[in-house]
Amino acid sequence: MAKGKAKTKAKKTKKVKTVSKRKPKKIKVAKKNSKKISVISVSANEKKKIQTEDPILMQSPRGMHDILPGEQLYWNQIRKSLNHAFLEYGFQRIDVPILEYSNLFVRSIGKGTDIIDKEMYTFVTKGRDNVALRPEFTASIARAYIQHGMNILPKPIKLFSTGTVYRYDRPQEGRYREHRQANFDILGEQDPVLDAQLIQLASRIIDGLKIKNVQFQINSIGCPKCREEYLELLTSYFESKRHKLCHNCKKRLESNPLRILDCKEDKCAQVSAGAPQSIDHLCDECRTHFKYLLEYLDELEVPYIINPRLVRGLNYYTKTVFEIWSVEEGKKHSLGGGGRYDELIETLGGESTPAIGFALGLDRLIMEMKRTKVKLYKESKPRIFLAQLGELAKKKSLKLFSDLEKGGILTAESFGRGSLRSQLRTANRLGVEMALIMGQKEALDGTVIIKNMSSGAQETVPREKLTALIKKILKKNNVVSVRPKK
Ligand code: HAM
Repeated sequence: MAKGKAKTKAKKTKKVKTVSKRKPKKIKVAKKNSKKISVISVSANEKKKIQTEDPILMQSPRGMHDILPGEQLYWNQIRKSLNHAFLEYGFQRIDVPILEYSNLFVRSIGKGTDIIDKEMYTFVTKGRDNVALRPEFTASIARAYIQHGMNILPKPIKLFSTGTVYRYDRPQEGRYREHRQANFDILGEQDPVLDAQLIQLASRIIDGLKIKNVQFQINSIGCPKCREEYLELLTSYFESKRHKLCHNCKKRLESNPLRILDCKEDKCAQVSAGAPQSIDHLCDECRTHFKYLLEYLDELEVPYIINPRLVRGLNYYTKTVFEIWSVEEGKKHSLGGGGRYDELIETLGGESTPAIGFALGLDRLIMEMKRTKVKLYKESKPRIFLAQLGELAKKKSLKLFSDLEKGGILTAESFGRGSLRSQLRTANRLGVEMALIMGQKEALDGTVIIKNMSSGAQETVPREKLTALIKKILKKNNVVSVRPKK
């Protein structure tokens, strides 16, 4: 017996020893205030400690913000405009995942771009997949097009997508790590009339939101055929001025010389001013495409500025590129941008499919709406308040509320409150015209009291006549508070 016990003890000791020999697990921990995510060694015990004992910071992650109810008026306005625009122009909505395999973005957006080299949120899943939070939508749209065999659908295919995107950038005004975009993409046709129509659509949305002082900046960066020769010229030009370029642009000279053209550093801008321009080196096809685009825009009366230095920060673009700038006292913000990406789908393994699209940065549109104090549409708000007193009245009021809602009458309530006084105080605060009051007596005899909130006059009416009566009173008061029936 004693021998047996001793054996068990020995076994236990051995087991403990094995565990303690194990190497500490490696997990990724973001060091506070550090720009990079550093990989440090943390034992299983420490990991547990981090999860349970670290103080919780009561703030959203850096560069990401909440959109509180008070701000939703702006967002509703934008949502309304976008929904109207995408239906009117024949787009269909597509929703794609927030996560994709990282190499989809690397292949599409391209190495040498800020997004791929510095800004992607990438991580390895428990299943060892390399994934990334989407830094944009276009790569996912192209992936979905190939995956779902959309090539067999009648062309053009017009897709609308909207949602959050993630870029690990240095946060500043109008530059966030999480922002929202609305994308309009047309796949399957290469006619420049589509380029013009998309630019006009962007212009319609911006106008509809009453945002003023915007510029449409346009350029053509050619196709791989003409770009090869242009890039050689551009590289040798910048090579000859290398000593005048900033540190980043010296690196760009090796990886992506086109990007030097839109460097914000003064000294680089001065060098770029004398650089060869892509529009002077287009092949016949690209030149004709650009010429027609400008003619169509003139016809549509969409003002534009040809900007030979506009190259965009994503490598998949071909021919047309454009950006929408808000210009305020010399400062520029890009409210949106896009262009043709005729090669992308083939690069990803699909069949050759011309495409064009653009994205609007919704957070920036809102910033601009606030800055220029645009007038918002009035949202319909309830003009009726339903108050109840007692358990039976609460039950009956629940049904009455649902009947009023079905009848298209916006009604406010506070079912959680017991006291009639506090309910009527809420009704006053909301500025409703009428309060409907149901107590025990009304609940039993199928009636409800209508109280005029300004005169204080009251009348008791049968419940089955209530909806019609209220509509009549509201109409008489000439107030638009009746929601259209679904
Ligand atoms: P993008 O120019 O990278 O294009 O982004 C579109 C818009 O998103 C920008 O013009 C800007 O308004 C907004 N935006 C970009 N980064 C930030 C940020 N860090 N914070 C706030 N807003 C930002 C694209 O993403 C392309 N995929 C557009 C496209 C669609 N091309 C073809 N189809």
